[in-house]
Amino acid sequence: MPIGGQIGRGGVLLTIRKAKLSDVPELYRLISYYAGEHIILPRTLPELYENVWEFTVAEDESSVVGCAALRLYSQELAEIRSMCVDPARKSQGIGREISNRLIREADGFGVKTVFALTMTPEFFEKLGFRESPKERFPTKVWRDCLRCDRFSCCNEKAVTLELADRPAALAESTPEAAQVSS
Ligand SMILES: CC(C)(COP(=O)(O)OP(=O)(O)OC[C@H]1O[C@@H](n2cnc3c(N)ncnc32)[C@H](O)[C@@H]1OP(=O)(O)O)[C@@H](O)C(=O)NCCC(=O)NCCS
Repeated sequence: MPIGGQIGRGGVLLTIRKAKLSDVPELYRLISYYAGEHIILPRTLPELYENVWEFTVAEDESSVVGCAALRLYSQELAEIRSMCVDPARKSQGIGREISNRLIREADGFGVKTVFALTMTPEFFEKLGFRESPKERFPTKVWRDCLRCDRFSCCNEKAVTLELADRPAALAESTPEAAQVSS
């Protein structure tokens, strides 16, 4: 299967592909923007270089316009994290395309459950996720949440997707072409 697929509508061509090392400065820029708004956790440059293989990106003709990472925790469990779309490119279906690619990647690893911690559960619910108690994910809490300055006043929600429960249409093999609105 090719690494990337092209998506586009209205003259805008986007590619969804695995991240490369040369994308790291752009990933850092995007993530730092939303981390500065306290919407997602910050990631340092060294962290991004170490974990770049976890990331999938959406790219237009000139730059990375969205990204997210799939972190594996066990044979059963993975997390979608650092999900963000360039503020100027929101609501064009880019977040959905990146997430669906990561969900299929998780499926390929044989993972049963994908979760996310998010302040926008509505976005994930559109993809079939359901709200879930945060206590289900102790490893995540110990690794990430304890170093967050909002640990004691966190307003993130946990959402999970059981891959076996996905609608059949979403579980089918990866379409290499899809459309986003401009
Ligand atoms: C959340 C985010 C990734 C969504 O990406 P996007 O490309 O704008 O979303 P899409 O266009 O793919 O939207 C897919 C669906 O989710 C809905 N949706 C997207 N963001 C939403 C929000 N904030 N609230 C409610 N619904 C939302 C869309 O309306 C769309 O629904 P539809 O299919 O019925 O039209 C993006 O807004 C973002 O980067 N936000 C800041 C960072 C963040 O919150 N990350 C998630 C936490 S890990």
